[in-house]
Amino acid sequence: MRSAPGAGCLLLCLLLAIVRAQAGGEVKPRPPLCQQSPTKVSCRAAGLHSFPEDLPRGVKHLELSHNLLQNLSESRLPALGQLEHLDLRSNRLVAISGPALARLPQLHSLLLGSNSLHHNYRDNAVAFSALRGIEVLDLSDNGLESHMVGGFLGSLAALRVLHLPGNRLSQLPAGIFQGSPRLRELDLSNNYIMDIEEGALEALRELAVLSLALNSLHCLSSFSLRQLQVLNLSHNALELFGWEEGQGPYLLQVLDLSHNRLLSFPQLPAAHHLMHLNLSHNTISSLDPSSHRPAQFVLLYEEMASFNASLGTAASLTHLAELDLSYNCLQLLPLLFFRAMHSLFTLSVAMNCLQDITMELLARDGGEDRNGTATWQEDTVLSVRSMDLHGNAIRTLPRWFFDALPQLEAIDLGSNSLQPCGGDMGGTSAGGSLGAEPCTAFHNIPHLQHLSLRRNSLTQLLPHTFIRTPLLSLDLSENRGLAVPRAALEGLEHSLQQLWLRGNHMDNSRAEIPCLDELRVLDLSGNRLSLLPKGLFCSPLQTLDVSNNELPALPEQALVGWTRSLQALCLAGNPFHCCGLGWLDVLQAAAVQLPDLHRAHCTHHSITNRTALLSSRPPWPCPQPWDGSSLLLLAALLGVLLCMGCGVCRLRGRGVGVLQPQPQTERAAEGEAAHSDTKV
Ligand SMILES: *[C@@H]1O[C@H](CO)[C@@H](O)[C@H](O)[C@H]1NC(C)=O
Ligand SMILES: *[C@@H]1O[C@H](CO)[C@@H](O)[C@H](O)[C@H]1NC(C)=O
Ligand SMILES: *[C@@H]1O[C@H](CO)[C@@H](O)[C@H](O)[C@H]1NC(C)=O
Ligand SMILES: *[C@@H]1O[C@H](CO)[C@@H](O)[C@H](O)[C@H]1NC(C)=O
Ligand SMILES: *[C@@H]1O[C@H](CO)[C@@H](O)[C@H](O)[C@H]1NC(C)=O
Ligand SMILES: *[C@@H]1O[C@H](CO)[C@@H](O)[C@H](O)[C@H]1NC(C)=O
Repeated sequence: MRSAPGAGCLLLCLLLAIVRAQAGGEVKPRPPLCQQSPTKVSCRAAGLHSFPEDLPRGVKHLELSHNLLQNLSESRLPALGQLEHLDLRSNRLVAISGPALARLPQLHSLLLGSNSLHHNYRDNAVAFSALRGIEVLDLSDNGLESHMVGGFLGSLAALRVLHLPGNRLSQLPAGIFQGSPRLRELDLSNNYIMDIEEGALEALRELAVLSLALNSLHCLSSFSLRQLQVLNLSHNALELFGWEEGQGPYLLQVLDLSHNRLLSFPQLPAAHHLMHLNLSHNTISSLDPSSHRPAQFVLLYEEMASFNASLGTAASLTHLAELDLSYNCLQLLPLLFFRAMHSLFTLSVAMNCLQDITMELLARDGGEDRNGTATWQEDTVLSVRSMDLHGNAIRTLPRWFFDALPQLEAIDLGSNSLQPCGGDMGGTSAGGSLGAEPCTAFHNIPHLQHLSLRRNSLTQLLPHTFIRTPLLSLDLSENRGLAVPRAALEGLEHSLQQLWLRGNHMDNSRAEIPCLDELRVLDLSGNRLSLLPKGLFCSPLQTLDVSNNELPALPEQALVGWTRSLQALCLAGNPFHCCGLGWLDVLQAAAVQLPDLHRAHCTHHSITNRTALLSSRPPWPCPQPWDGSSLLLLAALLGVLLCMGCGVCRLRGRGVGVLQPQPQTERAAEGEAAHSDTKV
């Protein structure tokens, strides 16, 4: 059968294509080459099923992680007399042979994480006895159970660092680490450990870093590892932690007890080195051990009579720099509790149930002075620089609160119920006439630089609220309906650099911002502004967010000034007018970043409110302003129309023809608008 010449050519082309494709298929993607240098070889994720051959003799550092190795046996393993570091993580290792490991006499770091060494654990453990010089061993995620581990460590006398997270250990029997008495760092996190027998850890005289995080510990009865520096007990079920006064100090510097069920502040006498203490996510309801506790705790509390007043504990924490008490159930914050912590810099009591800040541990009946104007009489002041109290139910901070914290630089008071006083209301704050909302004075706080009053249901700022407080940043966001009269921010003109007024639903009359001549960052998003406050025009803004307002345009004149400093501007969610986008030209000419331009729209009011994407300049005509050039243009246009109209008149006797294209463009525009709408 003959085919037409054209079809034959096509067939040939197809054939050629197929042949070429097959050839291409034969040249399989080569396994990614190992990266080599004389002493370092990396074959990470190279699809290897066996140990690579032809390795340089002098290789010291070999990475074989993420391959498919199953069996490390003598016959396959070249003698690598210089190898010091071998990474075999994430393979499928089930068996390791001793003679194989014996060919690596210099090995001091062996990473075997994410394999399956619990298979053949007896043989594997025997093989490990060849690793006499090993100092760092990673056995994480290997399905190991408590009884298997001792065997592996039987004779690793040089071991310093051991990683066992992600296994199936349920207890630590006495003597489990006997074979590696020089351990310095031990990670046992993410197991099922419920029980630590006496004698399991005590032999480790050099142990400095211990993680028992993510286990199931309920109780640590006698804690005696005095040489420990870092102890991580987070994510357990501890109700009690502490130790009793004994001989000699503890060297602990970092203690993480977050995510437990502690009922009280831990008893840590003689913890003179502790710098970081994390107690977040517990159920601590009082710092005062003699306070009334919920009935169900009373018995338990009496049982712990040997634990003395927590004041005793606090007194020894002279080096504590960071204390996290967030996510507990504290109702009172007795500032005197912290007085002995001379180094405390950062204190978080966020997300508790604080209603009051008190001086004393005990909330005495009668509470405040008769005047309601107690003063901080302690000669000791607290050293805290940064305090987080967000997410509580604080209604007022007494004036002495700031007197007690003379070095305070930053405080987060978001999500509380505070009302700031005006700066003209004198020093008294918590007092006031009966029935009036007590307010908190934020003026005259000599070192306060960062203040958040986000989500406090603020409605009205009073004049000079922050006067003589050298704020650099102020967050007043999410106070729906907030009014900021002009005088409210007075006093911050030469200091404030960052201001957040996000999500306040403020209209133009409620956002009177004075000229803040240091302001760099301003967030006005989520309000109802149709004009930007004029005071801003003199600020050297670098970042401005005006998204989700009611702005028809941005003020071109101000932008010209801002373009010298402005780097980024967010603007989506405003009903910009499509006619009058000169300001956009100004911004784009100045290369200001507009990260949400692709989501911004404009409305074309002369075409029944069609919206279009701002980024694709809408194609519709705009009414021209009446200046000389446009007049000329109009005249010319009229002339043309007239001529064409006459022509059409002469041809058809009707003048409508000229206007016929109009609805078409409109329909096209409609299509585009619809298209852009579906994108949103
Ligand atoms: C490992 O390999 C050796 C030699 O190739 C073999 O004798 C042994 O049975 C293998 N072991 C396992 C558990 O596959
Ligand atoms: C304690 O361990 C947890 C879980 O591994 C970890 O997230 C946390 O950062 C650790 N804490 C410290 C202080 O290192
Ligand atoms: C305390 O622990 C929690 C939870 O593990 C963590 O989110 C927080 O950052 C820690 N605090 C400090 C000060 O490190
Ligand atoms: C608690 O400690 C104080 C000294 O700090 C001591 O006077 C008091 O007797 C102790 N109380 C108990 C119950 O041990
Ligand atoms: C109450 O205030 C007055 C004046 O402000 C002062 O003289 C007096 O000592 C105060 N009383 C108390 C109990 O603080
Ligand atoms: C266009 O939008 C404005 C403001 O939303 C509204 O007042 C006006 O009625 C709209 N016009 C048309 C034709 O939809």
